[in-house]
Amino acid sequence: MFQTGKFVSNITPQVASKIGANLHLVKGHPIRIVKERVYNFFKKYQPGRFPVFDELNPYVSVKDNFDDLLIPQDHPSRRMADTYYADTSTVLRTHTSAHQTTLLRSGCDSFLVSGPCFRRDSIDGSHYPVFHQMEGVRVFDEDALGEQTVAEHLQETLTAMTKHVFGTEVETRWVDEYFPFTDPSWELEVKFNGEWMEVLGCGVIQPRVLENSRLPGRSGWAFGQGLERLAMILFGIPDIRLFWSADERFFKQFVGVDPSAERLPRFIPFSAFPPTSRDVSFWLPAQYNAHDLYDLIRALGGDLVEDVKEIDHFDDTRSGRTAKCYRLVYRSMERTLETEEVNHIQNAIRVAIQDKLGGVLR
Ligand code: PHE
Repeated sequence: MFQTGKFVSNITPQVASKIGANLHLVKGHPIRIVKERVYNFFKKYQPGRFPVFDELNPYVSVKDNFDDLLIPQDHPSRRMADTYYADTSTVLRTHTSAHQTTLLRSGCDSFLVSGPCFRRDSIDGSHYPVFHQMEGVRVFDEDALGEQTVAEHLQETLTAMTKHVFGTEVETRWVDEYFPFTDPSWELEVKFNGEWMEVLGCGVIQPRVLENSRLPGRSGWAFGQGLERLAMILFGIPDIRLFWSADERFFKQFVGVDPSAERLPRFIPFSAFPPTSRDVSFWLPAQYNAHDLYDLIRALGGDLVEDVKEIDHFDDTRSGRTAKCYRLVYRSMERTLETEEVNHIQNAIRVAIQDKLGGVLR
């Protein structure tokens, strides 16, 4: 993506068009409903303790998103293949943790942040280049904890929060995790319909992150959770694209839903329209990252592409070239697709694979 020494942003028009959508602010949207359900817990049990920041600028510095959080220079998440860069020092935040050190430096020691985050990723029913996260941070005054450790306070608070959101009878468990900016770190899982599902990542904030926040010697915890994931589990929403559809059969199911109701309604899927698939097979260019292909498919196929899978891989030992075959599954959430329409998009994708990616069709 670097051309003739000049920086070229990898933010696609398709992603750019969604930067201001802020589904977590849209009245009646399930993303906002689950956000409020979590906020209500903190309001009820820790009144006044957690100010909320819902409209922070999604463009953040590389320092805020990575450096201050001790994310190593060679970490894959920093690559242009994984992250949308506006320029060499500015990214679309890849997580709401990007706001931790700036807010702490501004004098705010406990807070909640929600907003859209952006990652270049694969295409399937649970991934979308734009998704929403919520971050929670609590830093303690010296002596504020008494006998309790930070880790105990974290686990107690987040277990209570999860029971508030899912219902008191839900089973939870802690699974060891790794994040560069917390130690120890965990994922909290809930057992839902007989399956363990990860709902959030969290941990005790690394002392060096607090130093970067001009709070040396203090201690605290942080968590981050995906709001689409939470909404998909809580309402039983089967496909992440539904959050972006304009279909009233989707939205009318959430009208008047009270975020603090004990039981949330289950989403009733409207008849699924038939999928149709097309394969494309090409020799890879010398520099190849599948995320370039996915962005290109998203740009041309939009939300009509439900899934993209690599189904074949061929190394030609004689020429040293590699070919791959991908299967694209097309399906609309709103209607049955016409063969011609799908062929038209598939063709445009084939052309772009040659002209934009430098692949050679087989
Ligand atoms: N930012 C992490 C992620 O996106 C989640 C996280 C937040 C983990 C805060 C620990 C503390 O996966």
